[in-house]
This record gives sequence, structure tokens and C-alpha cells, in this order.
Amino acid sequence: MSQIRKAVFPVAGLGTRFLPATKANPKEMLPVVDKPLIQYAVEEAVEAGIKEMIFVTSSAKRAIEDHFDKNYELETELEKKGKKQLLQILRDIVPSDVSCIYIRQAEALGLGHAVLCAKPAVGNEPFAVLLADDLIDGDGAGVVKQMVDLYGEQRCSILGVQEVPKTETDKYGIVSTGEDDGEVASITNIIEKPKPIQAPSNLAVVGRYILTPRIFDHLGRTGRGSGGEIQLTDAIAHLLEDEKVLAYRFKGTRYDCGSKIGYLKATVQFALKHPELSEEFRDYLKEIGA
Ligand code: UTP
Repeated sequence: MSQIRKAVFPVAGLGTRFLPATKANPKEMLPVVDKPLIQYAVEEAVEAGIKEMIFVTSSAKRAIEDHFDKNYELETELEKKGKKQLLQILRDIVPSDVSCIYIRQAEALGLGHAVLCAKPAVGNEPFAVLLADDLIDGDGAGVVKQMVDLYGEQRCSILGVQEVPKTETDKYGIVSTGEDDGEVASITNIIEKPKPIQAPSNLAVVGRYILTPRIFDHLGRTGRGSGGEIQLTDAIAHLLEDEKVLAYRFKGTRYDCGSKIGYLKATVQFALKHPELSEEFRDYLKEIGA
């Protein structure tokens, strides 16, 4: 299979770091300026030519399904009022040649388990995984497009990575690398959330992956790991025994929107770039001396 046609969006996590905002609203529906996080992620996948979006959801995440579904009542109202521009914004949320599939993760057993839930929809082909709470403003192209292009050359699993402060290794999957050209490196090992003193490097996996279907075999055998969850990192560690896995230092700026500070930074930066808001918002920041 030469192309990546499918993307998995695990959105069944509990979002505890953002409580109480995420008690009844999914974290992935938090807006950055005027679009929910999950929409940015879907747009990134669409830009990479992906046509099938697979959401791994839970009962608390119905708002995500509604967001990507047609809202007849709202559209009829906007049509009646002649609000063509708004109507277009709604219709552009999902291009007509893109389909959305929803799979339930009955229990939040971890990211690895969430990805495994997508197996029946992914089948036996390579696929992308996007964690919407990692909002990445790609340089030139979006990060998934960058990774899909690299997949075209390398035909193996690829993890989006970024250098993080040594003190923060216990928040991420951390990789050890072998051959490294400064952009792409071969991964020799990966461990989930090592303490800074045990971390083999400060190269952290962030929320963009291209995985070969072999990962499902390993996920099916992976027991609970760090935090009592079935970790994608642990399955990737086993995948490494069978196949080459690459680390890709993507071009772009990542905002960890699962954390309050990352979310605030993203909001400021995206507002400063927003065509309707940038001038007024910049003036406001000057006014308050920020
Ligand atoms: P996080 O580690 O950010 O967990 O999950 P979380 O539950 O969403 O948020 P906190 O830490 O409690 O605030 C990383 C990604 O994996 C998904 C999440 O939705 C998020 O996109 N996930 C996690 C699942 O889909 N299912 C799970 O069981 C766990």
C-alpha cells in the first residue's frame, strides 16, 4: 500500500488535566480561537490526502460526532437568513469526499488500547494517528503531510518527535536513536515516561504517528504498563524487534493543548495569526503591556 488513506483520532481519554472544563465537554472540542482542537487535527489529515477519519470515542464524546455531522436545523436557519459565508464554514468542516467512522472505547484503558479499538476499521494497511490535543502549526506543510511524504520514501512506521527539557521526560514516550541525520533518526528503543535520570535522551514522541498494521499484533499482546494503561509506547517497543521505526523531527511549532499553559499559548499565537483578529488582538496585548 503506497498511500496513507486512514487516520485514527483517539479521543476517548478523560481529560482530567482540564477539569472542570472537560466534565461534560470533550477536551478535543476546546476551541482555539474559533475552531475546536479536533477540527485542526482533521484538517491536517485532509491536507495529507487522508480520506477516512476513524474516531475512537467514548459515551462522553458525542459532541465530536455532532461536530462532524450535518446540522440540518442550523443550516436551514442560516439559509433562510441568507448567511452564505457562515453556511460555507459549516459545510467545509468535512470535505464531501472524506468519511468519518466512530468506534467506541468502552473503558479508557490507555492510548494503546484506543488504537487497538480502531483495528477493524483500519484493516491491514498503514495508517496515521493524530492526538488532537497536540496542536501543531506546521512550517510550510502540516506535520502529517510531512510524515506521509517521508513514509512514501521509507515505507516504515514513523513517530513525530521533538526535543523536550530533560526535566520533562516523565511526561512522554522517549526514544533512543541510532543513525541520525539531524531530521530523521532510526529508533533503537522507546520507553514510556522515564524519570529524567533514567531517560536515554530528551527526544520525545508527540501526538503524530504513522504505523504499520503490524502494531495491532503487538497491541493485542501488550499488558498494562505505566499508569495501569495499555501503552502505545510499549507496543512500539515490540514492533522495533520486527521492523524499522523512524523518529522524525517535524517542522513546526507544537502546543500541548492538554495542558492549560499550552492551550493558552496556542490561543494567543493562533489569535495573532487570525486574519480577522490579529490587528485588534495585537493592539490589545500592547495595551495591557503583555
Ligand atoms: P492523555 O494522556 O492526554 O490523557 O491521552 P487524557 O485522558 O486525554 O487527558 P488527562 O491526562 O487526563 O488530562 C492522550 C490521547 O489519548 C487519548 C486521549 O483522548 C488523548 O487524545 N486516549 C487516552 C484515549 O483515546 N483513550 C484512553 O484510554 C486514553
